[in-house]
Amino acid sequence: MFSTQPIGYVRSPYKDTQKIPKGLGAKHEAEGFLEIREEFEPGLTDIEGFSHLIVIWEFDRSEGFDLIGKPPSDDRPHGVFATRSPRRPNPIGLTVVELLRREGLVLRVRGIDMLEGTPILDIKPYLSNVPPERLRRGWLAEAEGRAGAKP
Ligand SMILES: C[S@@+](CC[C@H](N)C(=O)[O-])C[C@H]1O[C@@H](n2cnc3c(N)ncnc32)[C@H](O)[C@@H]1O
Repeated sequence: MFSTQPIGYVRSPYKDTQKIPKGLGAKHEAEGFLEIREEFEPGLTDIEGFSHLIVIWEFDRSEGFDLIGKPPSDDRPHGVFATRSPRRPNPIGLTVVELLRREGLVLRVRGIDMLEGTPILDIKPYLSNVPPERLRRGWLAEAEGRAGAKP
């Protein structure tokens, strides 16, 4: 296995997890920055052309894991690999953000759900190729149905 090093850090309005929207219908509209370390700057070449990015990051303030747990969006338990829980065997987070602009080493983005100072492991352009009619939303669709919430 390889060992990781942060390519940068998230600059987020969220200093504690309670402030981050959670549960059914939660919207992630918060703006923030992805501050990339200088040595990785050439890796940002041509990133401006993409509207959305996948950010891969570390849940650095999460300890341990639960293979079964109840997410905030349901009152029923689910397997960790069927959820986006921070308490996972390898504490890796993945967030799709909208790229608003690049200013040198800094990417201004919308859609932040990470805490201030979260280490960024990787960034990739988001290219969705799953047609909506082929997408199944598993237990989440059922939970939304029970709650009468819109996806
Ligand atoms: C449900 S997870 C989803 C994260 C990501 N979108 C994913 O799917 O992997 C989002 C929650 O992770 C927690 N969180 C955010 N940043 C964190 C960090 N650096 N360390 C530990 N937990 C964090 C917050 O409680 C936040 O509401």
